[in-house]
Amino acid sequence: MEITLESPLDMHLHLRDGEMLKLTAPLSAAFAGAVVMPNLVPPVTTPQMMSAYAERVHAALEGAAFTPYMALFFTALDEAALAAAKATPGFFGLKLYPAGITTNSEGGVANLKEADRTLHIMEEMGIPLLVHGESHGFVMDREQEFLAVYRDLATRFPKLTISMEHITTAAAVKLLDEFPNLCATVTLQHLLITLDDVAGGALQPHLFCKPIAKRPEDREALLSAVLGGHGRIMFGSDSAPHPRHRKEACGCAAGVFTAPLALPKLAELFASHGALDKLQGFVSGNARRIYGLNPVEKKVTLHDVPMQVPAAYKGYGETVVPIYAGQEIGWSVK
Ligand code: NCD
Ligand code: ZN
Ligand code: ZN
Repeated sequence: MEITLESPLDMHLHLRDGEMLKLTAPLSAAFAGAVVMPNLVPPVTTPQMMSAYAERVHAALEGAAFTPYMALFFTALDEAALAAAKATPGFFGLKLYPAGITTNSEGGVANLKEADRTLHIMEEMGIPLLVHGESHGFVMDREQEFLAVYRDLATRFPKLTISMEHITTAAAVKLLDEFPNLCATVTLQHLLITLDDVAGGALQPHLFCKPIAKRPEDREALLSAVLGGHGRIMFGSDSAPHPRHRKEACGCAAGVFTAPLALPKLAELFASHGALDKLQGFVSGNARRIYGLNPVEKKVTLHDVPMQVPAAYKGYGETVVPIYAGQEIGWSVK
C-alpha cells in the first residue's frame, strides 16, 4: 500500500533557535511548510524579530523547499504594529498564550480583556488568531475550562478565524460545531496516546506535553473526527524538541518531538483505520482552504514498509529523543 501526499503542512511546529534550530529544521523538511511557533526566549513579539527569525529558519533549512509561516507572539499591538506585521514577508498570524501556561509563555496574556482591541483590529484585517487554550485550573480540566473563553471570543469576533491549538478533548471537538469561525489543530500524539501511556506505568518523559494527554474517550473523539474527514481540523504536530537532559530530568520539560516521523506514523494510523483517503485533507487540504494557503508543490510518497525510529537525533551538539525512539513503525517515506 502507498499514498502520495501533495504539499503536506504542519500547522503547529516548534523549531527553536540556534544549534537546536539547525538540527530540527531539516527534520521537518518532508513537509512543504509549517506554522512556526514564536515561544523563543525572548518571545518573537515584533515584526523585526519575526523577520530575523524567519531568516535564521531559512538558513537552517539549507535550501529545502519549505515555507515557514511565521507566528508572532501575541501582545497588545495597535493598528500600526499589526499593519507592519501583516506587511512582513512570511507573517501568518498571532499566537496567544495565557501567561505562564506552557514552555516559554511567561510573557503571555494575563488579562484577556486587554486583548480585545487587538483582536478587533485583527478581525478587521483578516489576521488569524492561534490560541494555546488552557486555564490555570486542574491539569486534566484546563482545556475544558478554557472552552468558555473560545465561546466568548468566537461570539464577539465572528469574522476572526480562531484556531484552537492542539485540542485534546471530546468537548473541544464538539465546540467546533457551534462556531463556523473556530478551527483546530490536532497533534500526532493526542491521536495515539492517553494519560495512561504517559503516567500509567513507569513515567514516560518523552510523552509528556501540554496539554497533557487525556482520557480514552477524548482520544476516540479526536480520532473519529479526524478519520471522518472533519473539515476544520488540521494537522499540527506541536513537535516540541527539548534537549535530552531537559526531558530525562527532575522537572521534565513539556513537549513531544514527533516531526521526523509524523507523516509515516499518520499514514500507518490512517491506513489501520481504512481512512487513508482522509489524510490529504487533514495534512494539507483543510489548512489550505481555511487560510487560503498556496504552499510550494511537493509530493511525499509513503508506503507500508517499516522504518526504525532512531534512539535519538543528534547534531550541532544537541541530542533530542523522538516519540517511539528505538521502535519500528509500519510505514516510511518512499
Ligand atoms: C511546547 C514547547 O515546548 O514549546 N510544549 C508542549 O508541551 N506542547 C509549548 C506548547 O505548544 O504549548
Ligand atoms: Zn501550546
Ligand atoms: Zn506548541
